[in-house]
Amino acid sequence: PDKEKIFVVGFSQCISTDAWRQAMHEEMLRELSFYPNIELIIKDAAGNNELQIAQIKEFQELGIDLLIVSPNESDPITPIVSEVFQSGVPVIVVDRKINSNQYTAYVGGNNFEIGYSVGQYIKNLIPDKLEILEIWGLKGSSPAKDRHQGLVSSLGGEESIKYRIDGEWERKVAKDKLRVFLKENPNASFNLIFGHNDVMAISASEVCKELGYEHIKVIGVDALPGPLAGIQAVSDGVLHTTFFYPTGGEKAIELAWKILSKDSFEKENILQTAAVDSSNVRIMKQQTDRIINQQTNIVRQQDMIRSQIDIYQSQKGLLIVFAVT
Ligand code: FRU
Repeated sequence: PDKEKIFVVGFSQCISTDAWRQAMHEEMLRELSFYPNIELIIKDAAGNNELQIAQIKEFQELGIDLLIVSPNESDPITPIVSEVFQSGVPVIVVDRKINSNQYTAYVGGNNFEIGYSVGQYIKNLIPDKLEILEIWGLKGSSPAKDRHQGLVSSLGGEESIKYRIDGEWERKVAKDKLRVFLKENPNASFNLIFGHNDVMAISASEVCKELGYEHIKVIGVDALPGPLAGIQAVSDGVLHTTFFYPTGGEKAIELAWKILSKDSFEKENILQTAAVDSSNVRIMKQQTDRIINQQTNIVRQQDMIRSQIDIYQSQKGLLIVFAVT
């Protein structure tokens, strides 16, 4: 490829306020330091389909070289993504999917498999009379549908899924709705809560504690490191279990470069999941703490290299001045 060319990559992010998406951005930025020819522009659609469509159109007008997109909901976002793809601009879909195969590559976890693994796990955990309260993510987003379908498939049907709350992936929505539900249905019978992500699961666990349902086991998805996130919640006993859902930020940038530099790449890049519970949370925490440390060091080293380059550049200027005098 042309070594001097700068490629503009537009990333249409469905929402960016939560820690999981912040972690995705951090991964992307770290990985970008290896690809100085890529300029990344992130637009945050704040969970709004219309805004996301408008922002992708802005990218089109700008003339980006590649689009990365995490669609808020599949149905409304599919047509504009297909349009970009058909216009010849490569498209990488991350985490949430569109409803067609009109994209260049996909990076993300297999959400059906996550739901399926949750099902296998809880059948083991509560072998008889499993009664589930399921807290859904945004119902038009593919991970919510796939996590539910995977769960149903592993349980062999919907019978043990007793109650459903639409938490829309949001901590507060899940919390408020669960509180109302439990107050209005004091006789509701369930022994396990499956929250489609950790923020909803953690808030559900808090409501359970508040209203005297401490015995209910709560399971989530994401397993982010950090003080208020899933791994810590398992370690503190707030969550019984969480399942890893890698953000794919690093892989998305690596793929973008392969596509832009006409290197070979896989269309489907599926990232693995794993359960984190009391049996492995200590080692998981050690590992993720170490990774966070190393990542902080990488960023520090990058800053040092940058300032060395600055010093070198200014000294080079001085040398030239000496040479001419
Ligand atoms: C973050 C998030 C994650 C979840 C993913 C699904 O915005 O809600 O918690 O795993 O999106 O797309």
